[in-house]
Amino acid sequence: MEEKSFKDMAPLVRDLLGIDPARKEHLKEATRLVRGYAEADSLTGAVNTPIYQTATFAHPAYGMSTGFGYSRYGNPTRLELENTLAMLEHGKKAWAFSSGMAAISTVIKLFGPKDHILVSDDLYGGTYRLFHDIYAKYGLTFDYIDTTEPEHIKSALRKNTRCLFIETPTNPMMKVTDLRAAADIIHGSGGLFIVDNTFLTPYFQKPMDFGADIVLHSGTKYLGGHNDILAGFIIAAREEQIEPIFMLAMSEGGMLSPGDSWLMLRSLKTLAIRMQAQQESALTILEFLKSHPKVGNVYYVGDPDHAQYKLSLEQTSGFGGMMSFSLKRAEDVPPLINRLKLILFAESLGGVETLLTFPYMQTHGAIPEEMRERLGVNNRLLRLSVGLEDADDLISDLAQALG
Ligand SMILES: Cc1ncc(COP(=O)(O)O)c(C=O)c1O
Repeated sequence: MEEKSFKDMAPLVRDLLGIDPARKEHLKEATRLVRGYAEADSLTGAVNTPIYQTATFAHPAYGMSTGFGYSRYGNPTRLELENTLAMLEHGKKAWAFSSGMAAISTVIKLFGPKDHILVSDDLYGGTYRLFHDIYAKYGLTFDYIDTTEPEHIKSALRKNTRCLFIETPTNPMMKVTDLRAAADIIHGSGGLFIVDNTFLTPYFQKPMDFGADIVLHSGTKYLGGHNDILAGFIIAAREEQIEPIFMLAMSEGGMLSPGDSWLMLRSLKTLAIRMQAQQESALTILEFLKSHPKVGNVYYVGDPDHAQYKLSLEQTSGFGGMMSFSLKRAEDVPPLINRLKLILFAESLGGVETLLTFPYMQTHGAIPEEMRERLGVNNRLLRLSVGLEDADDLISDLAQALG
């Protein structure tokens, strides 16, 4: 039975209508992470939500439903994950996708031909490629701007600007946007404020508290945390956003599988301790890198010398485990990478294994050379995702690799 619209679906599907934001707000973040939204499976009491490995659900009788019809629309394992994410982000409803890009590709379809979208100029290369190489063909226009200065956002607005899409901190230059100021500007011209919160996660930053309408994630990174699953999320702040996003999500169908939803639920239980430990190691590595003679600039939002350090203290509760640094000489980059014994040279972030990335050729290779150079994403820049290994071992590895 194909449901015509979200509202026409069976009554029990009200669970899919979004969460009760007050349900667990008396609890601290680490507790909410460990226990999730529902706590236990309502049918059996299982402490961990079971993997409902099913594509479809039988209806008890004509016109009746258990609340679930088909797993593309809703699945109980995925629903518990989605409700947990909505709760953590202070949103109303979340959807879990098979990758971060699937989530971004879905959300951007809220806009149509002739709509103008402002995007932070320093962002994940795959997002740039999706907008510039694919969606621009369908009549959307994008401008890439430095959003660290609210004035830049204001002066880039056009009559048809419908959205401001940012990463903060940005990938890989770690630039920070004033969330409240940005929200006020885009709302003043009637647009939506969308924040990719992949780097800090709701554990350290809750963009909706500062006016974001939609929060996105590559769940592949800190939320998944173990470099073993791909996932993505869209979280909506308000009830009236649910129907349009649900229509896009279930029509396109890039949803997360029940098995990966379960792995993600398990990962979330340790997000608090992972984020704290990764940040602690990052702060130790920061001092090492800042004092090394071969290292030029170090970009870490928790560095008191970072240009927007004060702003970070105001709008986030932590700095995370991501940092970038440049070497003084480009010719030192390949030997450093080749000499690493512990740190892995790989393209991702946020997991328990420490990864070193060369954004110029890897994650940001899709961005035009001129734009990369202007931003500082050059052949001397490296990005470090600090994992959960002992910080002393990581520093020893960097020290011997730097030579
Ligand atoms: C900030 C950010 N957003 C989105 C994505 C895309 O996510 P995924 O690789 O899960 O599709 C990435 C990937 O690196 C990212 O770093």
